[in-house]
Amino acid sequence: MVCFFALAAGCVGTAATAIKQPLPFSHKEHSGELKQECRLCHVNPDPGKFEGMPDAASCMNCHSNPKVDTPAIRQLAAYARKHRNIPWVRVSSIPDFVLFNHRKHIAAGASCQDCHGDVSESDEMTARTDFKQQDCLQCHRAKKISTECGFCHDLG
Ligand code: HEC
Ligand code: HEC
Ligand code: HEC
Ligand code: HEC
Ligand code: HEC
Repeated sequence: MVCFFALAAGCVGTAATAIKQPLPFSHKEHSGELKQECRLCHVNPDPGKFEGMPDAASCMNCHSNPKVDTPAIRQLAAYARKHRNIPWVRVSSIPDFVLFNHRKHIAAGASCQDCHGDVSESDEMTARTDFKQQDCLQCHRAKKISTECGFCHDLG
């Protein structure tokens, strides 16, 4: 069993439950077998805080010329035709009072896997919504990055 959100400490999650998504999207198929880069779909738009989720139109760059015609691809095409976002269920989050920026972490050499585990090994994301302060601190200590309260919390 793959353990997601394994931070520097290793797997800290509790029992993993697969999330029911609106489409059966598989990271194992796209990132594992087809070797697609994470940034192909998670484009990290300015100012870089979020990685971002792919919209139906960007999926259709590949799937509008289908070698496969399956229920899932037809459902995907319907979202794209109606210009509707796919209502992906979020799996990872931190509270609003925590400062966090993806781009700065990647630029400093952190990899997606450091924080999210190896998503390309699994067909489905599992639920683990809580990044713990302890997990952040562990890596900050190891890399000699600040652990002062005001570094991650806006103390006003
Ligand atoms: C770079 C090209 C590419 C992109 C972008 C892409 N896919 Fe795929 N996808 C593939 C390929 C290749 C397959 C393997 C099946 C095939 O040959 O079409 C596949 C397979 C699938 C399947 C399995 C089909 C089935 O029902 O068995 C689903 C569902 C799927 N993709 C959904 C998505 C969604 C949703 C997105 C956007 C988030 C997406 N894909 C983006 C190339 C892509
Ligand atoms: C072909 C497009 C595609 C590629 C390539 C891709 N992803 Fe995703 N990713 C998605 C889609 C669609 C979802 C939402 C469905 C789901 O959770 O499985 C998602 C969800 C996620 C989430 C959950 C975010 C949240 O909080 O809900 C993480 C983390 C993630 N991807 C990381 C990665 C990493 C790391 C890579 C590279 C190893 C990667 N993805 C490659 C399309 C992609
Ligand atoms: C230092 C830890 C860390 C690294 C490295 C990291 N993430 Fe995240 N990721 C997080 C945290 C924390 C959240 C929740 C953020 C929130 O709730 O605002 C998150 C949320 C996400 C989300 C959903 C929300 C969003 O930002 O759109 C996606 C998708 C995602 N990450 C993909 C990736 C990908 C792809 C990479 C590598 C390019 C990556 N992450 C690298 C910690 C990390
Ligand atoms: C894998 C190691 C690692 C993990 C895990 C990690 N960080 Fe960091 N963090 C770094 C590094 C390295 C830097 C230095 C970046 C730089 O030099 O700009 C940094 C910088 C920061 C900064 C200052 C940069 C900015 O955005 O202004 C904040 C805030 C921060 N981290 C918050 C967090 C939070 C919150 C978490 C947990 C959700 C976390 N970090 C988890 C390695 C990590
Ligand atoms: C590297 C980033 C980071 C640093 C440094 C940090 N925190 Fe946090 N803090 C977090 C994250 C992420 C959360 C949300 C997850 C959690 O509750 O563990 C959090 C949550 C909290 C909460 C809410 C806890 C709860 O149970 O609701 C308090 C209070 C807090 N931090 C205080 C502090 C104080 C005081 C310091 C300095 C001694 C500090 N933090 C330093 C990242 C950080």
